Amino acid sequence: MDLTSKQKTLIKQINQLKKVKQALILCHNYQRPEIYEVADFMGDSLALSIKAKETQAKIIIFCGVHFMAESAKILNPDKKVLLPNMDSGCAMSDMIEGFMLKIWKKDYPGVPVVCYVNTTAEVKAESDICCTSSNAVKICASLPSKKILFVPDKNLARYVQSRLPDKEIIAWNGYCPIHDKIDENYIKKARKLHPKAEIIVHPECITSVIDLADHVCSTNEMIYEVARNSQATEFVIATECGMINRLIKEFPNKKFYTVCNMCYDMKKNTLEGIIDCLEKGINEIKIPEPIRKKAEKALMRMLKIK
Ligand code: 13P
Ligand code: SF4
Repeated sequence: MDLTSKQKTLIKQINQLKKVKQALILCHNYQRPEIYEVADFMGDSLALSIKAKETQAKIIIFCGVHFMAESAKILNPDKKVLLPNMDSGCAMSDMIEGFMLKIWKKDYPGVPVVCYVNTTAEVKAESDICCTSSNAVKICASLPSKKILFVPDKNLARYVQSRLPDKEIIAWNGYCPIHDKIDENYIKKARKLHPKAEIIVHPECITSVIDLADHVCSTNEMIYEVARNSQATEFVIATECGMINRLIKEFPNKKFYTVCNMCYDMKKNTLEGIIDCLEKGINEIKIPEPIRKKAEKALMRMLKIK
């Protein structure tokens, strides 16, 4: 990507500041491409949770959305976790609150709750185990119970159900508006326009889109799939629009087409916001300790299985 001279100056400033402050910058794949330039580590929700757990840094600057920074804080109670823009939320994670899950669970005594990582700390605290888009099938398969309550993404739940026909996945009625809006007709069009391309979609997409895909992948798995697939030179990617920047950066010699919608929350973090966090230590994620401890159990159970 071509950086402006202002961006180059800010990037230099951040790279100096983060050394002085002993800060680690984690960056989700959907972030603005200029933020890739200051990231110590880029990845999907699972990879970023693992990095957050492993780091020795005193400060974590989390360039992603609120639930991701919150997960980093759940796993690192003694570290400062800062989010450059506190308004970077996730519409899907807002579709369920802790008290709602508490009530819902009462209708299914003894049935384990799997929560997608795209949830608040309160929801994680009410869940038995967490999962991400890259391990949802594995996590559900690991549970001895036939019935499983799955929150909040009904699309991911349907995908898990299709892979685990012996289970009964009972889903909350939540969804990601960005992925849910991706229309199967655009995928059909893309297939006609680019017959040689492999089609890769995110499991937050609706079933009719998933059914047309060659591969269903988390954002990191998309990168692994392109790397593994040395024969194919063209790919159609159906997910949030920012993913294409990450793929172009990793594979400048491959061709990418995208069927996507923009998640504006993912774009709220800026280079200026990162400097503010580093200089002033603002936008710290705080979680009441009893909730953090319960939420940590759900995340740690997941990380043991991965
Ligand atoms: P990944 O874990 O696949 O990066 O997904 C996160 C997300 O928010 C997708 O919308
Ligand atoms: Fe949430 Fe969807 Fe945005 Fe991901 S793309 S952060 S699931 S609203």
